[in-house]
Amino acid sequence: MEAPSPGINGRMDITSPENADQRKKIVELLHKAYWMEVETVMSYIANSVNPDGVRAQEVKTSLAEDIQEELGHAQQFAKRIKELYGVVPGSEGFATEQSYLQPPEDQVDIVHVIKGVIEAERGAIDHYAKIVDETDGVDPVTQDMVITILQDEQGHLREFEGFLREYEAAGLA
Ligand SMILES: [Fe+2]
Ligand SMILES: [Fe+2]
Repeated sequence: MEAPSPGINGRMDITSPENADQRKKIVELLHKAYWMEVETVMSYIANSVNPDGVRAQEVKTSLAEDIQEELGHAQQFAKRIKELYGVVPGSEGFATEQSYLQPPEDQVDIVHVIKGVIEAERGAIDHYAKIVDETDGVDPVTQDMVITILQDEQGHLREFEGFLREYEAAGLA
């Protein structure tokens, strides 16, 4: 008996029934990515409004812009989950993880916010790099999408690392 083919003409096809196990694994990773984006949207909304002070303005403006981008990522992950025969989870499946991005005690503590954003972006970068690995040679469509999102997150990380450097140079962090 012939071994099950990975897809048409022996090419990898993540939508084919033989690849159901691999697909399930990828959908699970996409679920986590979806929740990370949704929680980031919540955290960035709060932190784009809460902080007080002149120095906080730049950070607030930047976060307010990122909200739309992170929301777009959540929608892309949702769409891909559906395309891979998964189901986009309802809100009852949500569990919080961003303890580090809760509003600080003092609303002028912008360094707390900057460090929290850096941690969130690093977490996303870690997880998305894992998806890029898992999809390699298996699901180039998901891989391509995640690489593009990964670049957005690297841009966010870099920007907030820049904010932190400024505060460190001023002896405020
Ligand atoms: Fe994102
Ligand atoms: Fe981001």
